[in-house]
This record gives sequence, structure tokens and C-alpha cells, in this order.
Amino acid sequence: MKKYAIGILGATGAVGREMLKILEEYNFPISELRLLASKRSVGKTICFHGNPYPVLEATKKSFEGLDFVLGAASNPVALEFAQSIVEANAVFIDNSSAFRMVDSVPLVVPEINGEDAFSHHGIIANPNCSTIIALMAVHAIHKKATIETMAVATYQATSGAGAAGPIELKEQMEAVCENRVVEASVFQYPIIENVIPHIGSFLDNGYTTEEMKMQNEGRKILHHPDFKVSCTCVRVPVVRSHSISIELITKNHMGIEEIRNTILSEKGLRLYDSPKERLYPMPLVTSNQDLVYVGRIRQSVLHDNGISLWCCGDQIRKGAATNAVQIMMKLIGLKY
Ligand SMILES: NC(=O)c1ccc[n+]([C@@H]2O[C@H](COP(=O)([O-])OP(=O)(O)OC[C@H]3O[C@@H](n4cnc5c(N)ncnc54)[C@H](OP(=O)(O)O)[C@@H]3O)[C@@H](O)[C@H]2O)c1
Repeated sequence: MKKYAIGILGATGAVGREMLKILEEYNFPISELRLLASKRSVGKTICFHGNPYPVLEATKKSFEGLDFVLGAASNPVALEFAQSIVEANAVFIDNSSAFRMVDSVPLVVPEINGEDAFSHHGIIANPNCSTIIALMAVHAIHKKATIETMAVATYQATSGAGAAGPIELKEQMEAVCENRVVEASVFQYPIIENVIPHIGSFLDNGYTTEEMKMQNEGRKILHHPDFKVSCTCVRVPVVRSHSISIELITKNHMGIEEIRNTILSEKGLRLYDSPKERLYPMPLVTSNQDLVYVGRIRQSVLHDNGISLWCCGDQIRKGAATNAVQIMMKLIGLKY
């Protein structure tokens, strides 16, 4: 079997470390693994398949000889290195939002628009984590009945802000228990005993950059330029897995049983919807695995073609690392 030289840009972070776990789990055929991060991480080692790998400082010369670079760093870092990666003839599958809305860059969720990946010119973008989880839950409904609008509220875990997020949550939890002053630096306010309706930066229309991603990226992924989404993104004191409330209106009517059956038959989804048995998606159920769970499916009282549902998925895995690895596997024809 052919083996591939893989670089991870941001290997020490929340997404980068998860990518390594997923490559191990999938037993991905690797000829060389290059772990790249900032100067601060030089001297660290990270274990992969039981062997220690050194973390190297990323420079413009770091990418020679690589087949793929999985991007797990911020926008400025992705922007700094993208050209060098492309010039080294590696394919850059990037988790930042730097390239997502660039016309020549495919924005891909393999289960939804996997074929788009093949039109890349060296860079493929991984969508926003809440966008991936929400679209995973609804894309099959869209295929059958055409979703016209969605009203969405996200409940986003602290690890969505990177490895520092859950550390801040834990420190604040300890501070509350010990009656100490709670200090906030990663989030705008203490996240302990709180929810914060502010992720990204505010735009002139009152939405945040994070909130507009659901509509803008959704249009590109679904090839649906008229898709309208009103989204409110909220940070909650959860370590891992984003939860999303969705109220959607379709052009054509679809009954609840048909929707349940559609979700049941879709790859990457798990129907988890038995309220009487208290079965509904929650972060404690969905973390550390790749499926997006969908439940609380009901006919909306607001509109005849309206459906309300609740979905939940591990945003570091399917919302980021797993999706990127799956794009790479799709490109080289490996099943997962
Ligand atoms: N966390 C999520 O749930 C999630 C979901 C979807 C998408 N994303 C996106 O994925 C990317 C990574 O997020 P994350 O949550 O993993 O962040 P993170 O935990 O803060 O990790 C950031 C990574 O970037 C590295 N880095 C920082 N400056 C660098 C530089 N100058 N050169 C090379 N590497 C550098 C860091 O290395 P050091 O350790 O050396 O600083 C670290 O490995 C971001 O664009 C984020 O928006 C995150």
C-alpha cells in the first residue's frame, strides 16, 4: 500500500493532537510524520503509535517532501505558510477560516460535497465546526425537501476556543470551589456559572463573524446560494462537543417519520431521539467519537413545513480533525 508523508501544522494544539489520534485510529499509511508548531514548542515530543516524535518550529522550508499538510493553527499562521505549502507540492487541508470563502478553494464535508475536494489547487478548507455539525444533521433533509431558511442557536464547548479554553474553565471551577476571584482571559467573561452570547467579532448587521459562517459556508457547501440562516452562537461551560438547536423550513413538506428514516440511513449520523426514555443528544454522549447525533425531532408549531431538531457532535473530531483526515482519505481513495 502506498504511504504518505504528512505534516501537521499546529500539532501541539487541540485540533492537531486530535488529528494524530485519528491517524492512529484509522491506521493511516504514513511514510513520514512531521509535527510543526511555534518556536515555543521546540523541545517537546508527541507520541504517535508508541514512538516519540519531536515538535519542530514551522518555517517556510518545513514542507518540502510532504504529500499533505493538515492545518491546525490560526488564520495568520495558515496565511503565512499556505504559499510555501503549495509551492512544495503538498496539499494543504486547513482548519482555519482564512481560505474558506475563497472561490478557488473547495470547502468540504466529505459526506455532503466530497467531490468538490477534487477541484482543489493545493488548498482545501475545512468548514467551521458548528457549520459541519449542523449541516451534517440537515443535509439529507435538504436533498429531499430543499431547506429555505434555518433559525439556529449553538451551545459551543470551551475547547472550541483551543486547548486553553477547557483549562480556563477548570481553573475557574476551582476558583469558585475555593471562594477565590474568578479570572477570565480566553473568554470575554467568566464561563463558569455563565453562558456568553458572543463568539467571534460583531459585524455591522449585529451578527458575529462566527454566526454568519453558518449561512455563508452553508451556501458554498450545499451549492445553495439562496440559503438563509439566522444564527446565535453561545459559549457554554462544557469541555467538549457543540450542541445546536435548529428550526428549519423546507420548500417541500416532509413528514417526521420520513425525516427520522432519512437520518437513520445517513452515513455519519446517529438518530438518538426517544424523549420518553430520556434519549437525546448531549455532550456527555457525543464526545470522543465521530458521529453527529440528532434528536428532539418535531413538527414546528411555527410553520407547516417547519421542523425543529437538536443535534450534537464532537467539534474537535467531526467538526475539525476527523473531517480533515476524511478529506485526505477521500482524495487518495481510502475508505474510512
Ligand atoms: N478547537 C476547535 O474545536 C476547532 C474546531 C474547528 C476549527 N478550529 C480551528 O482550528 C485551528 C486550530 O485550533 P485549536 O483549537 O487546535 O487551537 P490551539 O489549541 O490554540 O492550537 C493552536 C496551534 O497552533 C500552533 N501555532 C501557534 N503559532 C504558531 C506559529 N507561529 N507557527 C506554527 N504553529 C503555530 C500552536 O503551537 P504552540 O503550541 O507552539 O503555540 C498550536 O499547535 C484554528 O484555526 C481554529 O479556529 C478549531
